[in-house]
Amino acid sequence: MTGPPLAELFDASRRRSFRGRLLRWFGRHARDLPWRGTRDPYAVWLSEIMLQQTQVATVRGYFERFLARFPTIDALARADEQEVLRLWEGLGYYRRARQLHQAAKIVVAEHGGQFPRDVETVRRLPGVGRYTAGAILSIAFDARLPIVEANTRRLLSRLAAYRGDPASAEGQRLLWHLAELLLPGKQAGRFNQAMMELGGGTCTPRAPRCEQCPVAILCEARRLGLQGGIPRPKPRAALTPRREAAVLLRRRGRVLLLRCPDGGRWAGLWDFPRVALDGERPAERRRELAAKVRDLTGIAIEPGELLHTLRHGVTRYQITLECYAARCLAPGSPPDGAEVKWLRAEELARYPLSTTGRKLARLV
Ligand code: ADE
Repeated sequence: MTGPPLAELFDASRRRSFRGRLLRWFGRHARDLPWRGTRDPYAVWLSEIMLQQTQVATVRGYFERFLARFPTIDALARADEQEVLRLWEGLGYYRRARQLHQAAKIVVAEHGGQFPRDVETVRRLPGVGRYTAGAILSIAFDARLPIVEANTRRLLSRLAAYRGDPASAEGQRLLWHLAELLLPGKQAGRFNQAMMELGGGTCTPRAPRCEQCPVAILCEARRLGLQGGIPRPKPRAALTPRREAAVLLRRRGRVLLLRCPDGGRWAGLWDFPRVALDGERPAERRRELAAKVRDLTGIAIEPGELLHTLRHGVTRYQITLECYAARCLAPGSPPDGAEVKWLRAEELARYPLSTTGRKLARLV
């Protein structure tokens, strides 16, 4: 970093001013969010896991449904993973749900069902990193722990006019240091929530609303007129086109589903048999589809009518997914490690499906 060290830039009087301005602003502008009415560490924990990489507006309904179904850590620990994933369906990043479920079992087995208060213990729970541990413990117990997540990272980068990459080791060191420096001795949870609220709604990625910001006069980027270029925007990776096909394979009033393998993005969810296709011509693609579905499920099929084409993006791929009706030519047993089920249409509602799987289920 160029410029004065952080402790000089934010000396004691500026830190006091910062905290006062931020907390007063939060008193007037805090949104009424379902997890803000509680200090139950389980509810706070659930909200923070759901809010990782997901917008507040999306999380709201999921949070309320999840908590209504599993109101305590005990209830979650006893749950069937399939049902946990079904409640998470559509929220994305399903590993979060599986890790939350595992962590609930650990809290019951090792801590008598009481969410631990010790930060090192909390950080050992699956799915909990430094930011999530700080958020939960500061909000639920007012522990004096800083946080740096997507919204506060941007806010802190601008406050310090940090021009480097905030994800670099140097950037991380600096931003965590600043978060800690600014944190008040009391009300750390309220302060952390105010930082996220300001970062999310006012200190926005493009065109930050500095004229509405309670701490604009303490912001180094604003003073230098650099707020639009900090943090430096990451170059967007070009999307790679990819062609895939799924089959609605029917037999005796049921359709075939396959459990998505462990380790993958959709681990634990179910989907229609789905493969990547390289063939250029339609006839070639159908042959390829039949061969690959056989490898995947052990079942010989004959692809039929093209029912539907979906386009969607996953990470760096722009995927065109063709969905074919298919007939079963010869049953077979799935290869080792693969799990398949023949389900009736009405059973599909109980199974957690991938996003495209759910869309295709509506065709059944
Ligand atoms: N993003 C992550 N945690 C949050 C919280 N507690 N409130 C608002 N936005 C958040």
